[in-house]
Amino acid sequence: MQPNEVMGAGCKSCGSAWLDASYAYADVATVWGRGLQHRPQSLWRYHEMLPVSGPDPEISLGEGFTPLLRAYQLERLYAAQGEIYVKDERQGPTSSFKDRQAAVAVTAMRKAGIRECVLASTGNAAAAYAAYCARAGIRLWLFMASQVPAEKMREAALYGAEVVRVSGTYDDTKRVAAEFAARKGIHFDRGAKSIAGKESMKTLAFEIAEQLGLQRSEDAGAAAWQCPDWYVQAVSGGIGPLGVWKGFTELHQMGLIDRLPRLAIVQVAGCAPMSQAFQANKASADPVVPTTLIHVLATGDPGPAYGLLRNAVLKTGGTMFSVTDGEAFEAMRRTASRMGLSVEPATAVAFAGLERMFTEGMVAPGETVVVNCSGHTFPAESHVLGDQYTLSVELGHAAVQTGGDGLSSAFNNLDEQITSILVVDDNPNDRRLIRRLLRAYKQYRVIEAQSGADALAKARDQRPDLIITDLTMPVMDGFTLLERVKGDPELAHIPVVVVSAKSLTDADRALLSRYSDSVWTKGSFETSQLAAHIASTLGDSGQADARPASTDEPAWVLVIDDEPRDRRLLRRMIESSGDYHVVEANDSRSGLKLAYEHRPDLMIVDVNLPDINGRDLIETIRADHLLRDVPLMVYTAQELTPEQVNFLSQHTQAILQKTRDDKQVFVTELRRVLS
Ligand SMILES: Cc1ncc(COP(=O)(O)O)c(C=O)c1O
Repeated sequence: MQPNEVMGAGCKSCGSAWLDASYAYADVATVWGRGLQHRPQSLWRYHEMLPVSGPDPEISLGEGFTPLLRAYQLERLYAAQGEIYVKDERQGPTSSFKDRQAAVAVTAMRKAGIRECVLASTGNAAAAYAAYCARAGIRLWLFMASQVPAEKMREAALYGAEVVRVSGTYDDTKRVAAEFAARKGIHFDRGAKSIAGKESMKTLAFEIAEQLGLQRSEDAGAAAWQCPDWYVQAVSGGIGPLGVWKGFTELHQMGLIDRLPRLAIVQVAGCAPMSQAFQANKASADPVVPTTLIHVLATGDPGPAYGLLRNAVLKTGGTMFSVTDGEAFEAMRRTASRMGLSVEPATAVAFAGLERMFTEGMVAPGETVVVNCSGHTFPAESHVLGDQYTLSVELGHAAVQTGGDGLSSAFNNLDEQITSILVVDDNPNDRRLIRRLLRAYKQYRVIEAQSGADALAKARDQRPDLIITDLTMPVMDGFTLLERVKGDPELAHIPVVVVSAKSLTDADRALLSRYSDSVWTKGSFETSQLAAHIASTLGDSGQADARPASTDEPAWVLVIDDEPRDRRLLRRMIESSGDYHVVEANDSRSGLKLAYEHRPDLMIVDVNLPDINGRDLIETIRADHLLRDVPLMVYTAQELTPEQVNFLSQHTQAILQKTRDDKQVFVTELRRVLS
């Protein structure tokens, strides 16, 4: 199959959006019938039946061939008279079965020369695509409903994806993502409708049939493929069971298995359009607005996937039903405590379904059941990413339904949010001023660097849209930075604005004029002029006369104090003295986390803290390249020794004593430090 066919958006002859692939089944049957035991333990062992001929070694993470675990504990618990197996998809590269889809789809994208991709996801496909796109050098736009758990968004952001939170349901999010991709001319991943998506999920069926045979045979060389009686999966959009069904159907067609399994499609009651339609014996499903807490399963409108799955279910006497959030949470505990498998709530829905199948007698004695253990949440630490790791699209309902102007302005706003500006200055106060100036006018992403060398590394890594630089800096000055940027073919197109206090000599001017026509002298211009100039340099039409989007952005103050009364007092004093935003921590460790997350404009610390003492905390902050420029104020009830005062005056901007200094002194110092 040609790469462009794999990525096709619809059938050229009938126009259908649903694409299918078929293979030379008879030829493959002969080879597979002899056994595949010498092949690599990844999904690529089934390459003859995949739309891409093999792995790309630069992209592959060893996806697939996850363990098929016998669930003895559950067999005992349910007094099962047959075998229960767990297909442990948590053991994939990003801990969910979506790794299969991402591996095949991203490999196909790279072969087709696609450099940028848009995907809507309820969470797990997001992490999987983000990891594989990172490896393939493909820029990924991930659209997720704002209710998706933050951990899922953080994992994707950690892999470098552009994470866009949409204020709507997952079905709204899918429409917005498709519209965004169409307007920008970017490849849109069509999930179950695409060839790569469905075909990749077939490998689950191939593995189950091969592994069941291997587990039951003494002699691996003579093992025959075997079909379970039931295949159980939690379902949202349905791509998993659609692919699995196709896989079993193909094995059957090739004569490698003698029958097909029954499918048990388990939905969560707060979003169960398929199971509701099935129970009502309807041929199509009515969309629902999800009310479940299990957002990973929140596809309210399954579209044609329902009809296809219903046919599959009816063919072998399978079922579709739902379990409640509460039943899933119970099952989550039981799966962990009985089986030692820690799963996420979406996966627990399948286990709650399994339990229902046994308690309601759906499984006959002697039948073999395989349950897909699809995913697990990866705890990406919040402070690693700072506070700008998602972009957001705020939608009025009409905009979602009809597209049009509402959506246009939401997308323009998105463009602004992905515009990044690198601010280079060795003086942290000047950097902070420029950051606040920019953020007051626009929602740009601001990256900071403290020297030319630091800036060059960040420019290469993060490719900013514009650079604002000082001239006089240690390590590498602004002149050298300009020369290096303009001499690097990858960076030369980036406009550079010089903002400096240096009195320029004729030689300086001559040098600068070769690289930048935008030189501003600190203190000699209105901030609005610089903001307008930057907006027009960035091609922000209609915004060249930049006006503040809001008033000045409030400064963030982080208070670290273990005494709740003192924290309350500090908050009151800070908030009453100006437009400040206060965040609080009760010990040093949580304070450090918040500092990484929020990059505050000021930290106020006590010297007597329960976990890491104040002195060590201050040393840690001053040694950390992300935090060392944040101004520090000490606010303490402790009588300080001369040695302590000496240390603190070297490393902090102000030392205040709770008993000595009144509110007036505090406010004066606060304003001085923040000015
Ligand atoms: C853990 C888990 N289980 C089940 C599903 C449902 O998948 P499908 O899209 O195949 O319905 C998902 C979807 O993301 C999932 O992440």
